[in-house]
Parts: sequence; structure tokens; C-alpha cells
Amino acid sequence: MPQTVPMVNLQAQYHRFKSDIDAAVIQVMESAAFIQGSQVKNFENALSQLLNVKHVISCANGTDALQLAFMALDLPEGSEIITPSFSYAALAEVIYLLKLKPVFIDINENSFLIDVSQIEQAITSNTKAIAPVHLFGQVANMEAIVEIAKKHNLYVVEDNAQAIGAEYCSSGISGFGGTLGHIGTTSFFPSKNLGCFGDGGAVFTNDDDLALKVRMIANHGQGEKYKHQVIGINSRLDAIQAAILSVKLPHLKSFAKSRQEVADRYTQSFESLDLFQVPQKEITSTHVFNQYTITLKTNEERDALKEKLGECGIPSMIYYPIPLHKQVAYSQNVSLPISENICNRVLSLPICPELSIENQEYIINTILKFYQNK
Ligand SMILES: Cc1ncc(COP(=O)(O)O)c(C=O)c1O
Repeated sequence: MPQTVPMVNLQAQYHRFKSDIDAAVIQVMESAAFIQGSQVKNFENALSQLLNVKHVISCANGTDALQLAFMALDLPEGSEIITPSFSYAALAEVIYLLKLKPVFIDINENSFLIDVSQIEQAITSNTKAIAPVHLFGQVANMEAIVEIAKKHNLYVVEDNAQAIGAEYCSSGISGFGGTLGHIGTTSFFPSKNLGCFGDGGAVFTNDDDLALKVRMIANHGQGEKYKHQVIGINSRLDAIQAAILSVKLPHLKSFAKSRQEVADRYTQSFESLDLFQVPQKEITSTHVFNQYTITLKTNEERDALKEKLGECGIPSMIYYPIPLHKQVAYSQNVSLPISENICNRVLSLPICPELSIENQEYIINTILKFYQNK
């Protein structure tokens, strides 16, 4: 009888903090202050302190956060945004929705992060921003990105949905992912490292003007009530979600530590066997392992391992099966060989702070057996 292993164990995490979460949610219900109010403000302030960033503007989800960031930059129609193709769709979607143009470039195959050596050759007179994605839990080469952006007078927009709490440190700059460019974003989707009980997101910036614009746009373009200064949207983090996030926020560091311990256990079990490539850690960034993604030698082997894991009650995910430039909606006729190849070979294994040692060992042994029987 196969064991059933969770990809992420959200129920166990709820039960760890149940009494505090229940009390916080009840307090919001008793106050009936469901929209904005002190719960939201307190959470924004606590997150801004933790990440050492001047402004945190919470919103309805991570995709909205990206939309708010780009709306605040107010770029001319057709402006080009350089961004990696091997990524989640939200950024490309927002860029197109705002009538801007993504210029997809390739990634570094060891880190899965934007290949900074390709940025300068992608810059044209229409380029207005570079938008790295801190994929799977570590921060892209921000020193190089910021330097190129300065040289060419470009904005830097960081999609930090998967790397909240990851710290970047190079000889030139240091700080938390999402706070190193002009504007950064995150998602509080339940399975993210800091997840709420529904949808949520936030924008980060040290720029007072951008912060003011983002706040206004997120609130129907109002500076003052019923005075609409710009075209906005309605994107708010619910007070209930803010209350839940406030309970979890003090544990963000320990969540990352637990994820790192799971990752270390996987890596130590597989690394020397040369079965597949384990995640490679960047020297300049901590890794908060929103995903633990291995790279198999072939597509067939990846699919066979995924099937075997499934038969044994172990979920695994393919993040991401199709690079963005090959998606019907965002199709571009460019050749990005690493993205095109790696999407056939990646597999993300279960990882979360609450993954039991027993589950970890079961996953490791199942993978080792798969290779013994091949
Ligand atoms: C890299 C990245 N960007 C943006 C998003 C969008 O976040 P949300 O689902 O909260 O809209 C996600 C969510 O999975 C993501 O992984």
C-alpha cells in the first residue's frame, strides 16, 4: 500500500499555529473591519521591517502585484521588458495586458535564473525594464542586473513570488530579494514560503513616488476618497489574510531553515550518485527552496520517474513544462535552447517545512530504488 505524501503540507502548518491563527481570524470577525484597517497596516509594517524595505503595499495576489508595479512605472505602449522565458506565466501575462512587450531571454541551466550575459544584447531603443524572476527560491544576479540597468537607464522589476526571505549579498549590493531593484513583488499564494489562506500579494519599493502611485492604483486610482487621479484597479489584501500572515511572518526564517534541511537531506542522498543534477546554490544568494527541482538526464527518464513516484503515492510537479516563448498566448519566434531543453527534464519534489523525516526518507528511497531497478 503506497504512502500518501503531500507536495506541501498546509494542514500541518495550520495545526502548528492553529490557536494563534484562530484567535487572529476571530478578532477580525469581531471587529468587522474586513477591508484595510489596522490588521493590514500592521502586517505591511512588520514585513517592511523584516525585509528592510521602505514601502510594502499589500494587494490581492502576486499577479496583481506585478500589474500594479508596471502600472506605476507608466511605460509607453510597446515598451520592451527583458525577462526569462523559463518561468511562471504571470509576468508575461501582465506585460502583454498592459500593451508592453516581453523580450524573452534564456536562463542559466544550473541556477534556473535569468542569464545576465544575454541581457545587453537584448536591449534596444524601446527597452524600458529588466524583470528578473527569483525562481524556485534564490535571487538572480542582481549586481549585474542593477549595473546594466543603470548603464542603459532601465527600471528593474523583481518578481520575488518564490523567494521571499532569500538574501542576496555580492561585493556591490546586498539585501532581500524583491528589494534590490526599483520595485519588487511577491505572492502569498498558500503554497508560497509565506502563504495565506487564499490569495494575497504585495509590492515592495524604496521609492516614495512609486509607493504612492502603487497605493493609489490599487485603490481605484484614488489619492483621497472619491478623488480619482489615475486609472486604477481594486486590489486589496483582506484583513483576515493579513491577520493570518501576521501570525506566520515571525516564522519566515524558520520556514526557510526547515526547507533548507529537507533540501540538504535530498542533496546529500543523491549528489554523489550522479543520477541527475541536484539544485545548485548560488554563491551570492541564500536559497529558501520554494521548490526543490532536479534536472534529469533525459525527458524519458523524467517522465518515468514522475510516473513511478505517482504510483508510490509521491506527488511531483513539472515547473514549467513549456517555456513562455513557446506558449500559444505569448508565442515568439526566438531560439532559447536552455529553456526549450530544460523544461523536458525538470522535476520538482515535495518540499515544505512540515515534510516529515519519514516522508523524506520514503521519497529518497523510492528514487534510489527506481534507479537500482532501471
Ligand atoms: C514566479 C511567480 N510570479 C507570479 C506569481 C503569481 O502569483 P499569484 O498566484 O499570487 O497571482 C507566481 C505564482 O505562482 C509565481 O510563481
